[in-house]
Amino acid sequence: MPRIKSPALLVAESGADREGHGLARTMGLFQLICFGVGAIVGTGIFVGLSDSVAQAGPAVVVSFVLAAITCVFTAFSFAELGGAIPVSGSSYSFAYAGLGETTAFLVGWCLLLEYGISISAVAVGWSQYVNELLHSLVGWQLPAALSAGPGDGGVVNLPAVIVIAMGCVLLVRGVRESARATAAMAAVKLAILLAFCAIGFSAFKDGNLTPFAPAGLGGIGAGTTAAFFSYIGFDAITTAGEEAKNPRRDIPVAILVCMGIVTLLYCAVALAATGAIGGDAVGGRPAALSYVVNQVTGSSVGGGVIAFGAVVAIASVVLAVMYGQTRILMSMSRDGLVPRVFEKVSPRTATPVAGTLIVAVVFAVPAAFASLDAVVDLCTIGTLAIMAVVNIAVIALRRREPGLPRTFRVPLYPVLPLLGVGFCLYLMYETGWTAWLQFAAFLVVGLAVYAAYGRRHSRLAAAADVTPDAAEREPLGV
Ligand code: ALA
Repeated sequence: MPRIKSPALLVAESGADREGHGLARTMGLFQLICFGVGAIVGTGIFVGLSDSVAQAGPAVVVSFVLAAITCVFTAFSFAELGGAIPVSGSSYSFAYAGLGETTAFLVGWCLLLEYGISISAVAVGWSQYVNELLHSLVGWQLPAALSAGPGDGGVVNLPAVIVIAMGCVLLVRGVRESARATAAMAAVKLAILLAFCAIGFSAFKDGNLTPFAPAGLGGIGAGTTAAFFSYIGFDAITTAGEEAKNPRRDIPVAILVCMGIVTLLYCAVALAATGAIGGDAVGGRPAALSYVVNQVTGSSVGGGVIAFGAVVAIASVVLAVMYGQTRILMSMSRDGLVPRVFEKVSPRTATPVAGTLIVAVVFAVPAAFASLDAVVDLCTIGTLAIMAVVNIAVIALRRREPGLPRTFRVPLYPVLPLLGVGFCLYLMYETGWTAWLQFAAFLVVGLAVYAAYGRRHSRLAAAADVTPDAAEREPLGV
């Protein structure tokens, strides 16, 4: 029998259903949607689009739709669980309630890939557009030695470290300030991407879309895996369960609205880019969106504006994923599975100051020294594994807790969660052997950490005031 934590206990411990529980309850539906768009739209579309096009050609739009479908199945599951268990731990807490402590720890461990490593990945993407912006503003850019890690031909990626430091300062100051900044940044990036679409479509030629799928179905599949990174982050909305004003109602709505907005936007951007100058010209090009605009307008001013949008957009993703990472560690710390420092909330700012600083310092290291490709694949495979588990947790919880109040229910249950698992496994398969090997090694280390620390310090076992093995046989309830 796994160590299961009931949804009622998770909610009661977090204080998510009462006021004055430590974190400030400041986010309404609009802020949650902005937060979601803030967490999702960033490096994936501004930088990664050219990689997806290199794989799929103009059929990249099909790849974006397939990646969206994978996410939408899982988004339904996140919406159901986020409404039913509105705590900061997101998929980690859902796994604790649905599948038990060991799975939950491993999900929390993989969240270090989805959130932590994506802080680094997104920050690395940021520096590409910082250089593009500097180039169009002052005709000068940072030398490669200071704007890329050794894997990308540099020494240290300073802009990547700087954006993480800025995110840390904002998050430490308070969630209200972060939410305001996130809303403003979400508006800027939507406006810039819409302007990009308008410019791209003004130069649209059918002929640029042929051949539509030069690498066939295999190319579309590989493009889908690359495109998936650009959707990562929609689940971050569920990490705001304890800071949302009405989490049970607003979290499911915000997740689904965000996915709708982002999918339409990505497909439009992909079509506009390839329709304007053709797949060959976009594929593999750095700062591709700026390049498209420069080509269409014949001047570098438009590309500079896009670069500015990208700098803002990607910074907001850093902020949102860093926020998510600190809240998940807070939930794990509350459960005794990671050290207590992560659950300490400063009474002055109502934010987890120490946890935020640790997260910033730890993930600034790969940001400074790693290459984008290396971190993106690892982040993608870890996220897909988590999503598969969340779909399974929906099924497990429907069986174990049929009476749990659910403000949203996955339609066509259990078909959609099962399809979600299937799509996630397919995309994991597509990531390739290197990512699988790294992921397997990461999981083995995670299991060792759980055995050495988490299992021994688990508060679930301690609260039962029995040995860990006995706690396994007698799951807690409230
Ligand atoms: N979806 C996020 C991005 O594209 C991770 O930057």
